Amino acid sequence: MSELASESLDTVRERVAEHRQGDASGMWDWLLVRAAEREAAGLRRRLWTREAGHALVDLAGNDYLGLSGHPRVRAAAAAAVATWGVGSTGSRLVTGTTAEHTGFERELAAFLGAEAALVFSSGYLANLGLVTALAGPEDLLVSDALNHASVIDACRLSGARRAVVEHCSPLAVDRALTAAREFQPYRRAYVLTESVFSVDGDVAPLAELAAVCRRHGAALLIDEAHGVGVHGPGGRGGAYAAGLAGAPDVVLTVTLSKSFGSQGGVVLGPRAVIDHLIDTARGFIFDTALAPASVAGARAALELLRQEPMLAERVHANALRLHELATEAGLPATAPSGAVTSVVLGRAERTLAAARMCAEHGVRVGCFRPPSVPDGRSRLRLTARADLSASDFARVSTVLHRIPAQLVQTNAGRGLDNI
Ligand SMILES: Cc1ncc(COP(=O)(O)O)c(C=O)c1O
Repeated sequence: MSELASESLDTVRERVAEHRQGDASGMWDWLLVRAAEREAAGLRRRLWTREAGHALVDLAGNDYLGLSGHPRVRAAAAAAVATWGVGSTGSRLVTGTTAEHTGFERELAAFLGAEAALVFSSGYLANLGLVTALAGPEDLLVSDALNHASVIDACRLSGARRAVVEHCSPLAVDRALTAAREFQPYRRAYVLTESVFSVDGDVAPLAELAAVCRRHGAALLIDEAHGVGVHGPGGRGGAYAAGLAGAPDVVLTVTLSKSFGSQGGVVLGPRAVIDHLIDTARGFIFDTALAPASVAGARAALELLRQEPMLAERVHANALRLHELATEAGLPATAPSGAVTSVVLGRAERTLAAARMCAEHGVRVGCFRPPSVPDGRSRLRLTARADLSASDFARVSTVLHRIPAQLVQTNAGRGLDNI
């Protein structure tokens, strides 16, 4: 049985409750019940087929600088395939590292002012590898309440003690570090934050967080996934903008899947940290290296960003324009610090309906529902790209004005999703 269409949900629930060991045929019925519950709450996620050369205005992707299809990025990736083949053939510790990997690490570290860098096969793995290699059960992790799932998972997997603190609050971080020291001393402490937050697009108070960390002897781990390429001087990210480039107590993670238009992740920081990761990070050691073509594409994108620092400013200007259009359409949009502005609509099923309506009228927007955001905080996410045109903005404006007012008003004042 793959759908519940022929039976009522209650019938299946009863069957699941009575399911006996040894009856293999009903093994997965409980998943159908869960799926039906998510359906009712507007929380189903469905795969769909993307056509090449899409006609929609894409405000859902993360290709901030519009470089994933840039001729020089494509050519660099194609040349790497011609030289190295498609796959990387193994872990870098087993089948060796390519000049693409080491060249890119050197160039990105120089761009961001870090001592050293290490490429992982995704940003998710970079966070997992970093945190689990640095922290264990005797350590304390102080994590912003709105950190990305990869940071949350990294904290959980490390087995370290965790304090989840109020969003963007150096005071809350200070209190968590002080309280932990008083009541249950820790060996080492790490504070984890994004530089530009993925969902609301706001910027963390990095200079203040770094000052708190220094008072407590803690290290600051900054996820720059949404910072590098779109924020700070020439797109050098939040840490650079806050004067933290090359700081001995700061470590960065970066994804190559957004501004760099490719795939992969990178950890950047002091040489000692990078050497420790090569020796101990399981997400580096036990994972096949990032494909040379992905590294070469990201390397070409970095070169373009260095040559055209205005790209970063253009993304931000376009994000401000999206924010303006949403506000003109009467939508409650968050002020963007990087590429992202969010329109919080509250309930999941209504947000999904609004996102579908936008797609039907030619604009694809991100639809963020639990568990990506807390209950009652579902939102449309509008992501700017450097290459949005005047006609793209005109289409976006028309579509945003079509979002029915009751979708916004009905949710005003509602605390939680009704799920
Ligand atoms: C803040 C943040 N960190 C990490 C990641 C993971 O990066 P990747 O897609 O390269 O695994 C993402 C991706 O969405 C992200 O938004």
